[in-house]
Amino acid sequence: MIRTKVLGLGSYVPDRVVTNEEIAFLNDQHVRQATQVTETNDQWIQQRTGIKERRYVPNDGATWTSDLALEASKRAIADAGLQPTDIDCIILGTLSPDFHFPGTAVVVQKKLGIADKTSCACFDIRQQCSAFVYGMQMADAFIRCGTYKRILLIGAELHSHALDYSTRGRDVMVLFGDGAGAMVLGPMETDDPKQGVVYTAAHADGNGAMDLCLKIFEIARLPYLDYDPRDREQNALMYPKMDGKRVFLNAVRGMVMSTQAALAKTGMSWDDIQWFVPHQANLRINEKVVEVAKIPPEKVLNTIEFYGNTTAATVPLTIDYWRQQGKVKKGDRVLSSVFGSGFTWGAAIFTV
Ligand code: COA
Repeated sequence: MIRTKVLGLGSYVPDRVVTNEEIAFLNDQHVRQATQVTETNDQWIQQRTGIKERRYVPNDGATWTSDLALEASKRAIADAGLQPTDIDCIILGTLSPDFHFPGTAVVVQKKLGIADKTSCACFDIRQQCSAFVYGMQMADAFIRCGTYKRILLIGAELHSHALDYSTRGRDVMVLFGDGAGAMVLGPMETDDPKQGVVYTAAHADGNGAMDLCLKIFEIARLPYLDYDPRDREQNALMYPKMDGKRVFLNAVRGMVMSTQAALAKTGMSWDDIQWFVPHQANLRINEKVVEVAKIPPEKVLNTIEFYGNTTAATVPLTIDYWRQQGKVKKGDRVLSSVFGSGFTWGAAIFTV
């Protein structure tokens, strides 16, 4: 029987570290000011979110989301022992695409140097923090059906350019960082249902759509974008808006339910799973999920403390980080549960 195997993994974060202390002094060009710009502080951020620092791209206007995706992709393809020309499908999850259209997957395809060589299929998916599980479900279906044989699944985000560096935007601004993670998936012949991608489930509840959103424009209006982006009285639409408490409650509920369902539907227990890799939105959300779902704490992997929330990238980025630290080993089984804007949520079990 054909099942899906993780063939390679890679990740990338930019070099610039922005601490909680520094973020309070940054203007929207990411330049440190002499006096504090945003009323926030390290203690508040750590207490509420667990975040100490995050990574930002250079502020020279020369880095795109596709560049972060490209670096992670090159590493994942090399890790799989493949060449870029072996890839026959790209699925890219991002909420911070290079531009409104075309999607960013085609830009990555071009930057990988395979656009004219393979003309491979390119999908952008828009499931925000749940994109990696959604993308893995798509990739798994494609591979089991024989549609594609070497799928590059990427999560990449350049958040730092679209945050509100002011007290108005502080609830969201302190949470997010830049980064990318990628996986290469392909077919394997096995009758062992516990190998490769064992399980994926994806869910959504559109009632929560406006509880965490970044509009930028409203297409129903004429003109569809009608504000001065430099006027703080008018430009709120340019920045993410969040009902933090509703997001927190729904995230805990969605991640607990999907974690429990993943175990129940596969007949697995924590004895079968080496690592729990939750989406990295907030350390407090993850601690609550671990407590309510009774997950062995020693099996939990986080990176939120030093990478912040990198949305679609968090799952592969966290697995790859802990692999580089020597914790995650080849063949380990991971249960990942995610929650994000939409609301969307889901879970996956797979061996790495
Ligand atoms: N620094 C300092 N104070 C801040 C702040 C910041 N960065 N952000 C908000 N505050 C203030 C609020 O303005 C409020 O002030 P007030 O009491 O004077 O009105 C106070 O802190 C408490 O705000 P509240 O929203 O009640 O805090 P909270 O305990 O709900 O924590 C979050 C806020 C954002 C940390 C929390 O709601 C959360 O983690 N939500 C989930 C967010 C998330 O994970 N999003 C991504 C999902 S994929």
